[in-house]
Amino acid sequence: MTDKTIYKKASKDPIKFWEELAEDIFWNKKWTKAFNHEPPYFQWFVDGKLNITQSCLDQHLPENKDKVALIWEPESIEEEPKLITYGQLFAQVCSFGNALKKLGVKKGDRVVIYMPMIPESVVAMLACARIGAVHSVVFSAFSSHALKARLEDTEAKVLITADGYYRRGQVIDLKSAADQGIIDTKIEKVIVVKRAGNDIVWENIDLWWHEIIEKENDDCPAEIMDSEDPLFILYTSGSTGKPKGILHTCGGYTVQAKATGKLIFNLKADDIFWCTADIGWVTGHTYAVYSALLNNITTLFFEGAPDWPTNDRWAKTIEKHKVTVFYTAPTAVRMFQKYGEEELKEEDLSSLRLLGSVGEPIDEAAWQWFSDNVGGGKCEIVDTWWQTETGGILISSLSGVGPFKPTFTGLAFPGIKVDILNDKGESCSVDEHGNLVILPPFAPGMLRGVYNNDDKYRQTYWQDYGQNIYFTSDAALKDKDGLIRVLGRVDDVLKIAGHRLSTGEMESAVNGHELIGECAVIGIPDPIKGEAIVVFVVIEKKAASTEDELKQAAISQLKKEIGPIAIPKQVYIVEDLPKTRSGKIMRRILKKLFTGEELGDLSTLANPEIVEKISKLVSNEMNKFDSSEFKNKING
Ligand code: WT7
Repeated sequence: MTDKTIYKKASKDPIKFWEELAEDIFWNKKWTKAFNHEPPYFQWFVDGKLNITQSCLDQHLPENKDKVALIWEPESIEEEPKLITYGQLFAQVCSFGNALKKLGVKKGDRVVIYMPMIPESVVAMLACARIGAVHSVVFSAFSSHALKARLEDTEAKVLITADGYYRRGQVIDLKSAADQGIIDTKIEKVIVVKRAGNDIVWENIDLWWHEIIEKENDDCPAEIMDSEDPLFILYTSGSTGKPKGILHTCGGYTVQAKATGKLIFNLKADDIFWCTADIGWVTGHTYAVYSALLNNITTLFFEGAPDWPTNDRWAKTIEKHKVTVFYTAPTAVRMFQKYGEEELKEEDLSSLRLLGSVGEPIDEAAWQWFSDNVGGGKCEIVDTWWQTETGGILISSLSGVGPFKPTFTGLAFPGIKVDILNDKGESCSVDEHGNLVILPPFAPGMLRGVYNNDDKYRQTYWQDYGQNIYFTSDAALKDKDGLIRVLGRVDDVLKIAGHRLSTGEMESAVNGHELIGECAVIGIPDPIKGEAIVVFVVIEKKAASTEDELKQAAISQLKKEIGPIAIPKQVYIVEDLPKTRSGKIMRRILKKLFTGEELGDLSTLANPEIVEKISKLVSNEMNKFDSSEFKNKING
C-alpha cells in the first residue's frame, strides 16, 4: 500500500526511485547508467535492452493467458462486444508482426496507423513494437491532408487503415481519406481492416488485414530494443507551423507508463479500466493501451461517441462492463452535466471506484457534478496533468494517498521535480501565477526529440529558461500546501474539447484558400468544449466574393486541412485586423471582445478604429455589450 512516505523517499534520490520502479518491467539486459544528461538531451536506463510487448504480453501469459485484456464495445448497441484475452492478443500481435516483417518492415522503419477505435488498432501498435518498427498513429478524424503531412514527415512505407467505421450511426469512409492522403508519399503498401463493409476503391498496393494475418504463425520473437531506441512518434500542435513529431523511446516510456498507471490509479488485478481517449491522442496510447497492459488489467475500448444513440450511452457502458476506473476529459463531464443527472436514473454505476480527469483544467462545478453523480460521492477524482511530450502523467495526487482538492491537479508524481517560475526565472510565491517547468532529472518517459526537427526541440522546450529546464508552455500556481493548479496554455495552442490545436496551423489552413488573404484565429471560452474556435477573415478591398462565400471558404479549409474538430464556432468577416505598428496581429485584443476583459490602451495600435468596428460586429451577434460599454473598456 502506497502512502505519503513515497514522496520523501523519491525526492531524496529520484534517480534511484525510478530505478526501483524500473525493476517492475522485463529487461533482457539491465541498464548500466540510470540517467545521463547532456543538456538539452537526456537518456534513461542507458544500455538497457527490452521490448515493451514482453512486459505487456509475454510476462502475463504463464498465469493470466485467459484473462481478458481488451473489452471492445462497438458503436452499435446491436453488435456484440468482443472480449480478447491476453493469450489471444499475444497471438494476434505475433501473427501481425510476422505479416509486417513479410512486407519488409524492419526495426526502425516507421509505420503509420490511421485507424478507428477497433481491436486491430491495438494489435497494430503492439505488432510494430514487437518487431521494433516505430508506430505513428494518426487520429482517424484527421483529414487526408493531415495524414499526408505525417506520412511525408515520417517517410513511412506502410500504412494501416480500415475500410470505414461508425460514428453516430453513419459509416465514415476512412479508406478514401487514406487513398487521398498517400498520394505522392512513399507508401508502398496499405493494409486495410474490414470493419464497416462499405464500398471502397481497391488499389493494387492494398492488402486485406484478415488475409495477410491468416497466413502467419503466432511465433514472433520480440526484437530486442535498446532503451533509447524509438518506440513511437506522435504528432502534436505547437505555436506555429506544422505539427511536431514527438519522439518517445522504449525504456523510459515503458517504466513510466507502468508506474504512473499503477500508482496514480492504484490499479488492482480485477480493474476494468476505461480511458475514453482515442488512440490517436497520447492518452489513448499510454493509458488505454500500454499502461493497462503493462499492469495486466482489462482495458475497455469504445468505438463510438459517448452520447450515441442515447445521452446515457457512456453510463450504460460503465454498467454493462462493470467499469471500475473511468478516465475522461472535463469536456465530456460538462456534456454529461448538461444532459442532466435524470439521464443517469436507470444506470447502476456502483462498480466505479475511481474517476480520472485529463486534458484541460476541470472547473469546480464539473468536478463536483462528476464526484456526486458519477462517483456517487464515494470515488476519488485524480486530476492528471501531462502532455504528449511527457509521455505519461507527471502531476496528479495518488489514489489512496491524496489530497484531492477541486481545480488542483495535486502534487507532482514522486520523483518528478516541477516548479513555477516568473519571467525572470525565479520561483513564484504561494498563489502567484507563473510558468510551469520540469527540472532534472525530468521523467524517464519524456520526449527525446522532435522527429526531423532538432531546432524545434531546442526552441520549444529548452530556450525560455535555458537548457536545463523544460518549459511546458502552461501557466500554473501553487497553493500553500504545494498543490498545483494548471491554468492553461501560454502559447498559441488551443484546447478544443481537450484536443490540442494550434492557432498558427489553423490560420495557415484558412489563408490557403484562394479567396482569402489574411485571417486570425482565436479561442474563446465555451461552456462545454472549454474553448471554441473563432475565425476573423479579412475581406479584400475589391473582393469579388460575398461574405457568405468567405465564411464557407474558411470552414471548408479547416475541415480539409485538419478535420472536423477544427470547425469554428463563428467566422467573422472584417475589413482589417487590429495590428501593432510593426504589423503584428493583436489576437489578445480580439479575444478580450469575447471575455469582456478590459481592452486596455489601444493607442499603440496602427489601426485602433478597427477594434470598435469588430466589437460592434461581435456584439451584434452576441448581444454582449453595447458601444458605451465598449468605450468604458478602453483604458480601463
Ligand atoms: C496540454 C497537453 C495529457 C494528455 C492529454 C493532452 C493541458 C492536460 C491537464 C490537466 C489542466 C491540462 C495542458 C497541457 N492539460 N492535462 N489535468 N489540467 N490542463 O495532451 O494534447 O499534449 O495537451 O493539455 O495545457 O499542456 P496534449
